[in-house]
Amino acid sequence: MAAKASAKRVATVRSPRPAPGASARAPARASRDAVNPVAARSGASRVGLSASHYTSSTVYAREQQFLFARGWVALCREDELSEPGGFVATQLFDEPVVVVRGKDNRVRVLSNVCRHRGMLLAEGTGCVSRLQCPYHAWTYGLDGKLLGAPLMRDQVAKRNCDLPEFGVWCWGGFVFANADRKVRPPRMTALDQQIGRYGFEHFHLIDVFEEEWPCNWKCLVENFMDAYHLSVVHPGTLRPLTPSHLSRKSVSGKAFTSYIANYTDTAPLRRNHAAELSDAERRQSQLFCVYPFLIASVSADTLAFLMLQPNGVDSVRVRWGLSSFEARLSRGAARTRVKKWQAINQEDHAVLARLQHGLRSRVYRPGPLAPPDLEGSVADFHRWYRGALKK
Ligand code: FES
Ligand SMILES: [Fe+2]
Repeated sequence: MAAKASAKRVATVRSPRPAPGASARAPARASRDAVNPVAARSGASRVGLSASHYTSSTVYAREQQFLFARGWVALCREDELSEPGGFVATQLFDEPVVVVRGKDNRVRVLSNVCRHRGMLLAEGTGCVSRLQCPYHAWTYGLDGKLLGAPLMRDQVAKRNCDLPEFGVWCWGGFVFANADRKVRPPRMTALDQQIGRYGFEHFHLIDVFEEEWPCNWKCLVENFMDAYHLSVVHPGTLRPLTPSHLSRKSVSGKAFTSYIANYTDTAPLRRNHAAELSDAERRQSQLFCVYPFLIASVSADTLAFLMLQPNGVDSVRVRWGLSSFEARLSRGAARTRVKKWQAINQEDHAVLARLQHGLRSRVYRPGPLAPPDLEGSVADFHRWYRGALKK
């Protein structure tokens, strides 16, 4: 029986934004961060990671030390913070943080813990002129500076009681945070050249949901970047549109991998899209992973994204949502797109819960991966993962 993904609806934000057509990108050309997709296609077959990578608390502790502590984590969409004061209170793993747009229009990721005695400051999403602690009313500016501490002026005057700030990187309309402020954002040139014409950094948020999936976080990344399962696991939702055999490997780099899910000849062309898109680009979805925790699919009119945060060796928090090309999508059209992705996610959720069970086997040994057009992005992810864990 299919397990049900329990979803908490988080927010619906619509904001007027410039048309995506205004953001033309340079045509594709070779770039230094690209890995030659042809070379990737000719590679010998690889085997998957051993089961312990998905089940061992020792491996998980190593990942915490080497990946999580300096990995870029997508927290929200930029248009959730459409105006100065817009905020999203969330977690960076176990750390409470608040993503907030300042009066200078800069997006910051601040500690969401009051410097007085540790109270959580903001909750949920909203728009404020300053952050005020609900315990003793210390107040902070949108840049994290302490502005006031009632009846305590002398005690705080000589101390730095500002909110600590985390590394932040905005790309493709996503806000990423990094626990290590010294880590520089990665180069994304080849992926920008491949998918930038969709203009999805300007897409408009339809809805966002929070869920907990009962699997290792890497299973979810691999599943999303695996074209091989599309026809089998999604017979009613995806096979009629993007059967596995039409998929093609696309660009990879040090920080990302991607593939293209081509539509069948009978699939209707999407009507609403950025002006720069070719007919071919209107007949495909481009799926990408920004290592390690963002997986997304962009088509002419829809961006579907899953922002992951591991929560133990066999649990992953998923903040997922949809954005549309259209600034004003009818309620019915929005509901249709959300329902479609809820159905897809439920199919994947059921498979991944079952997969996690299989991976606890003591006799299982991984077999070969399918050819690059089907599982090449999974191989890319494994290559990145093995390298990152060694550092
Ligand atoms: S804990 Fe925030 S003002 Fe006291
Ligand atoms: Fe799937």
